[in-house]
Amino acid sequence: MKRKVSASILNSDLLHLADEVSLLEHAKVDMLHFDVMDGIFVPNLSFGIPVLQAVAGNSHLFMDVHLMIIRPHLYITEFAKAGADMITFHLESESDPVETIRLIHEAGCKAGISIKPGTPGEAVLPYLDMVENVLVMTVEPGFGGQSFIWEMTDKIHMIRDALGERDVMLQVDGGINDETVNAAVNAGADLLVAGSYLFKHPDMNAAVQLLRCGNEGSV
Ligand code: DX5
Ligand code: ZN
Repeated sequence: MKRKVSASILNSDLLHLADEVSLLEHAKVDMLHFDVMDGIFVPNLSFGIPVLQAVAGNSHLFMDVHLMIIRPHLYITEFAKAGADMITFHLESESDPVETIRLIHEAGCKAGISIKPGTPGEAVLPYLDMVENVLVMTVEPGFGGQSFIWEMTDKIHMIRDALGERDVMLQVDGGINDETVNAAVNAGADLLVAGSYLFKHPDMNAAVQLLRCGNEGSV
């Protein structure tokens, strides 16, 4: 299983976003993780379509868009036009999952479904044949820099088993760093979102390398 790293720009220096994206490109991250929050689905606001358009228009990176918004189906076309390559939405949102997945595919993007820590892993099972990505939140969505919820490894494990031979990415998001990455990967995750760990690390290239290749001696 080849692991990939998707870098969250939520906690980057937004005044110098172009420089931050270029640092991530040089560090050879696989994707750029774009956290969209509406202040309703989560108790925070972030950025949206115009910022994605600016970033996507100036980077060759794959745009991995994570929608933490209450009615994702209303914005799929606009996010796709703005440069999204993959759009992941929450099953706890008010949108119909099958219809939202259909809209994402129709817009030419890969589709992902996500669940919050309190939602049982079984919630994703009906959709495994329809999506390219399953995102298990390992913190409560809303803020970067939180601690990894270790109990989520059982859920990751269960979903990895359920995926079987399907060609579907299993993404983890929240609190991924040198101390938690092995637990997530050993449970079956292969797409790792990291924000604060990458931006706080004195050597971003080394940090990306460590997430992708593992950390001997960690859990
Ligand atoms: C939380 C976001 C995450 C988060 C990742 O709502 O979905 O993408 O910003 O940041 P770290 O790696 O700092 O937990
Ligand atoms: Zn995210």
